[in-house]
Amino acid sequence: MKDASPAPVYLKDYTPFSHLVDEVHLTFQLEPAKTRVISRIRFRPNPDATAAPLRLDGEGLVLLWAKIDGNPVTPEVDEAGLTCTVPDAPFTWEAEVEINPEANTALEGLYRSSGMYCTQCEAQGFRKITYYPDRPDVMSIFTVRIEGEESVLLSNGNPVASGDGWAEWHDPWPKPAYLFALVAGNLVNHPDRFTTASGREVELNIWVRPGDEGKCAFGMEALKRSMAWDEEVYGREYDLDIFNIVAVDDFNMGAMENKGLNIFNSSCVLASPETSTDANFERIEAIIAHEYFHNWTGNRITCRDWFQLCLKEGLTVYRDAQFTSDMRSAPVKRIEDVIALRARQFREDNGPLAHPVRPASFVEINNFYTATVYEKGAELIGMLKTLVGDEAYARALDLYFSRHDGDAATIEDWLKVFEDVTGRDLSQFKRWYEHAGTPRLHVTEDYEGDRYTLTFRQETPPTPGQPEKPPRVIPIALGLLGPNGDEILPTQVLEMTEAEQSFTFDGIPSRPTPSILRGFSAPVILTRPSSNSERAFLLAHDTDPFNKWEAGRALARDGLLSMITKGAAPDDLYLDAVLTMARDDSLDPAFRALALALPSQDDLAQSLHEAGHSPDPQAIWDALETLRQARAHKLQDLAPRLYAQYQVEAPYAPDAEQSGARALANAALGLITRLDGGAQAQAQFDRADNMTQQLAALANLLQAGRGETALAAFYDQWKDDRLVIDKWFSLQVLHAAPDRAADITRALTEHPDFTPRNPNRFRATLGALAQNHAGFHHASGAGYALLAQWLKTLDPINPQTTARMCTAFETWTRYDAARQDKARDALEDLLDLDGLSRDTTEMVTRILE
Ligand code: ARG
Ligand code: ZN
Repeated sequence: MKDASPAPVYLKDYTPFSHLVDEVHLTFQLEPAKTRVISRIRFRPNPDATAAPLRLDGEGLVLLWAKIDGNPVTPEVDEAGLTCTVPDAPFTWEAEVEINPEANTALEGLYRSSGMYCTQCEAQGFRKITYYPDRPDVMSIFTVRIEGEESVLLSNGNPVASGDGWAEWHDPWPKPAYLFALVAGNLVNHPDRFTTASGREVELNIWVRPGDEGKCAFGMEALKRSMAWDEEVYGREYDLDIFNIVAVDDFNMGAMENKGLNIFNSSCVLASPETSTDANFERIEAIIAHEYFHNWTGNRITCRDWFQLCLKEGLTVYRDAQFTSDMRSAPVKRIEDVIALRARQFREDNGPLAHPVRPASFVEINNFYTATVYEKGAELIGMLKTLVGDEAYARALDLYFSRHDGDAATIEDWLKVFEDVTGRDLSQFKRWYEHAGTPRLHVTEDYEGDRYTLTFRQETPPTPGQPEKPPRVIPIALGLLGPNGDEILPTQVLEMTEAEQSFTFDGIPSRPTPSILRGFSAPVILTRPSSNSERAFLLAHDTDPFNKWEAGRALARDGLLSMITKGAAPDDLYLDAVLTMARDDSLDPAFRALALALPSQDDLAQSLHEAGHSPDPQAIWDALETLRQARAHKLQDLAPRLYAQYQVEAPYAPDAEQSGARALANAALGLITRLDGGAQAQAQFDRADNMTQQLAALANLLQAGRGETALAAFYDQWKDDRLVIDKWFSLQVLHAAPDRAADITRALTEHPDFTPRNPNRFRATLGALAQNHAGFHHASGAGYALLAQWLKTLDPINPQTTARMCTAFETWTRYDAARQDKARDALEDLLDLDGLSRDTTEMVTRILE
């Protein structure tokens, strides 16, 4: 074990930077292994800070010279930066450093990927480019000159001038260094234009490697829709003459909102019907919107420090979800988001990595770009809107934008605009930001005379470092249904503020069925015991689409839990209810496809753990297989009918309607494959002209154990398309039988197309192993060992992606002692690696604690 753990930083220690930065001039002389960066920076003492020598961040830089006001100086250089005595007045700092983009495999700072130069500075990558106060509350105006032989030289802001081998950019909007970006490459563009509401003409470009130009049209349309939507819904206009998006193959995350120059993982922007699934299209549309929306929530108003990350991320996720709801189906989007929230955020919140939406300390900030900060952060915005109402939300946002434009703001600033607009005291609401953990909401009912009473009790289990949890304000959207299924009380929001609280409803003629937490109005776990017949009733009658889906999901889950823990047979009530639901053509096909999907293996493990069992991954896998087979029999007449009825004849479009139809038809194909051994899937594979159909067919063939020929054909067809080959890698791992998963994964890591240097490929292979629940948690421990071994290989190459993938182990204490021993061995072996990164050390240490 490591002895010296890296030191954390604390929110409570925040102090403003000693200096203000009026302007920054950067010159880049690009060369793959020896890039020179010359900086000229105007500093002046910050009147709001205590005077101190100048401390600049810098990592892995070779300082060639430095000057203050033209006079050479010799700063004191250490591993993390430099310190220099400076005049007690405004001064100009100049320095030249050398960096090596080619050797930068961590993909942070300036790096080379497939012959292009690219940057990633959030959170603290700018310090790998030059010496600078690399913190978000230091904002400045950047002018950038790029010298390089590439045909396309891009940076933030507006183009100023260019010539043979150079280009100059000026960004008039003050920004923190994490929003700096530079791209240089022999790229081609997909151009377009947008005119803003006030008449600004904006040039739009999506820049890609030659050969990818045909995959830009959808992203461009999504961008224009995002721009129009933010004007209409939030009154936010774009503020530069040009907006560039660049696609890059090697990227740690999804995308980055650099001012005027968004950089995207190519998987999150490139799309075509032949190579992208409907789900890919929906995700690309959401990420394009997300990064664009950051222009206001993130860039014009940024974060004071990294503890405030949720200020921009939670809000921007919330905004992109609103956008998707408007573009597509709001209920379907809500259900998808809650599935993801439970799978990723609840999992995190109920394990060793639990942390508040606004953490109070961190070792490595990159480890806090989490489902909690992003997705739970977005849930908090949604709750706030529910509590204050739509109209007050709109006024609060207007005030936020006018009051804080140009600021590096805090959660306190954010809550204050809501308090000022509504006169409400939000101090209790603030606990949602400060306390980790998922509240459990217990419910009891009472019906007497015509009075119906609901009593709620809230309780949040302890999380690391937070044993006690005071009660939070919880908005509980409630409806009541009468015995014949009519809604007798339309949705109203109960505001729970106490640890225990009752709500009474008079004039209720007979005992109602409550529909609690409609639309998933708060990120809590509702523990109310319910009968299967009540769930079937809600699935049939609830007017709230989320709770309708939720009832079906709970019915499926409880049946599966009984199968796993008591050896019960598949639940007939569930099978009947699912048949009734699936054949109801008045229901949106996309909704029906979601309602046909079963809880994931990991969800079931989470539920079993919650109920006090140690989950047996193989038993979970077996139960799902049994239930799927039983469903296939139950729906054997309906499935072919659905399959035929929902084939799309029109030319492919990735819209909500067509993708809903394809989702339902493919759900039907899943049922059919269970009985026909894959004949229909083979037919679909052979005639598929889009990736949604082709991939679903291939998955079914793998499932049926006859995927070999199709896999080979698929590889042959797509071997030159990296993004499709990622799917080829992951599908094989995801569909590997539990006892074969580690072997199949290992064999794939020996494939010539496998490389740990490309995060997408690594995730497609080893990340998929972590998602194959029964395979990863196989009793042999082979899954744990293989992943840990590869994380040891990846850590020296790319600490950020390594650390992120450690989350595969965050649930290790749920399982039996033998598995725990094997998981601990694997983690300790990883922790023992010489020179293990700070990123991975923090993650493994927290997981083991
Ligand atoms: N701000 C980016 C986004 O959400 C993500 C950047 C993540 N960077 C990181 N180093 N973890 O859109
Ligand atoms: Zn974001």
